[in-house]
Amino acid sequence: MAATDIREQVDLIREVFAYTERFRGSTFVIRISNEIIDHPSFPQHARDLALLHNAGIRIVIVPGARKKIDEVLGRYEVEKRFVGDIRVSDPESMDLIKMAAFDVAHRVMTALSGHKITAVIGNWVRARTRGVLNGTDFGRTGLVDRVRVEAVTRSLEQGFVPIFPCVGHNDSGDPFNLSSDELAGTVAGSLNAKKLFLLSADPVMNTPGWQIPEGVDILEDGRIFRMTPAGVADFIKSNPGKPGLTALETAAAACREGISRAHILDGRQAGVLLKEIFSNLGMGTMVFADAYERLRPMESSDVPGILEIMQPLIAEGVLVERSREELERTQNDYWVYAMDGVVHGCAALHTGNERTAEIAGVAVDPRYAQLGIGAKLIARLSDKAAEEGFRKIFVLTTRTADWFLARGFKEGSVSELPAERREDYDLRRNSRVLVKDLSL
Ligand SMILES: CC(C)(COP(=O)(O)OP(=O)(O)OC[C@H]1O[C@@H](n2cnc3c(N)ncnc32)[C@H](O)[C@@H]1OP(=O)(O)O)[C@@H](O)C(=O)NCCC(=O)NCCS
Repeated sequence: MAATDIREQVDLIREVFAYTERFRGSTFVIRISNEIIDHPSFPQHARDLALLHNAGIRIVIVPGARKKIDEVLGRYEVEKRFVGDIRVSDPESMDLIKMAAFDVAHRVMTALSGHKITAVIGNWVRARTRGVLNGTDFGRTGLVDRVRVEAVTRSLEQGFVPIFPCVGHNDSGDPFNLSSDELAGTVAGSLNAKKLFLLSADPVMNTPGWQIPEGVDILEDGRIFRMTPAGVADFIKSNPGKPGLTALETAAAACREGISRAHILDGRQAGVLLKEIFSNLGMGTMVFADAYERLRPMESSDVPGILEIMQPLIAEGVLVERSREELERTQNDYWVYAMDGVVHGCAALHTGNERTAEIAGVAVDPRYAQLGIGAKLIARLSDKAAEEGFRKIFVLTTRTADWFLARGFKEGSVSELPAERREDYDLRRNSRVLVKDLSL
């Protein structure tokens, strides 16, 4: 083998080790559609899942059973009924639905046992009725009410691979048929999973055939690479009624439940899971939670809302006086956290000629306190300062030092302030100077 080939292989092995180290102990939830469980690629997926499990990644599997349920109902001549994409499940057909769902779950369990992996099929989901929607009684088609996280975690800690069949029970013990997409999203959110993978038999999303709204990232080869949950909403609006959107919806819902990345993959490609995990650009379409979503630069129409948040804090002496004119004059320095057009918080980054910039005017509507809004604003402005080449940021505060200290700021002194801020430092206010080193 040529020396360059060996070097490349060694680089690849190093990369795999680094990824493995990063993900050891993390939970990955994998939703596998029924078509993929029936596909020739499935034995390879089972082998790859076993490898991931043996590398210390906690694997949880949610198999889809739609095809099998249709097949079993058909065999017993039970009419199948859907409203949109949702099955209507009669109580009388539940025995057949359970049989099909557990049959598919068993097949996954058997495939894993071939690799010496002990999988367990569990009753870990409390379900509730979907009820009557727009006049349709969905019968025993249910919704996920709660995932019994402790019990699943115990299984994972004992080294088992939990399998969630798409059936759950309510507190009276009645079984409900669950959508495996919804189930996978909720399980991933409840278990605080690192990633959710959706393996189905749909082709990789590529630009031809789709309207691409702004904010969706496309790779050179046309692959629709990634979007945020807000991007998914725009994407669905731009492509109404097209097949293949359910996976995007599931991925976006999982991100809203706290998952940072959900990957939509064409499960007909053997090895796709490993390639997705161990390469930078992956193989499918990723939906990712943008930590900075809902943050944007302040607009002049935000000023009245910001003044409303600031006024009581100014009256209390927590913030220094700021007028409408001053906010308008320094508008470009401010960023806001806004939801549905309403501002819930703001913060400013004032920059001068020196290498230190100032964080100021941090204020969060108390009705939305403790939701991480303040922290997001500070993180965004710290990144902005670093991007603009500043080495340090500082804040002057009389009452909120602890909050900043918990966010990487350190006790500083007036002598560390840029000259002009030193000159107008208000000795009577006697604010503490807190400094954050952006190079750390
Ligand atoms: C300080 C402030 C910006 C925090 O905003 P927030 O969105 O509620 O904060 P987060 O959700 O990111 O952080 C919440 C955490 O900070 C803690 N915290 C909130 N206010 C605090 C304060 N004044 N001092 C110390 N800790 C505080 C909370 O207890 C919580 O702790 P936890 O993570 O251990 O549960 C907000 O309370 C505020 O507007 N305060 C008044 C204005 C102010 O003091 N501005 C700073 C001067 S420039």
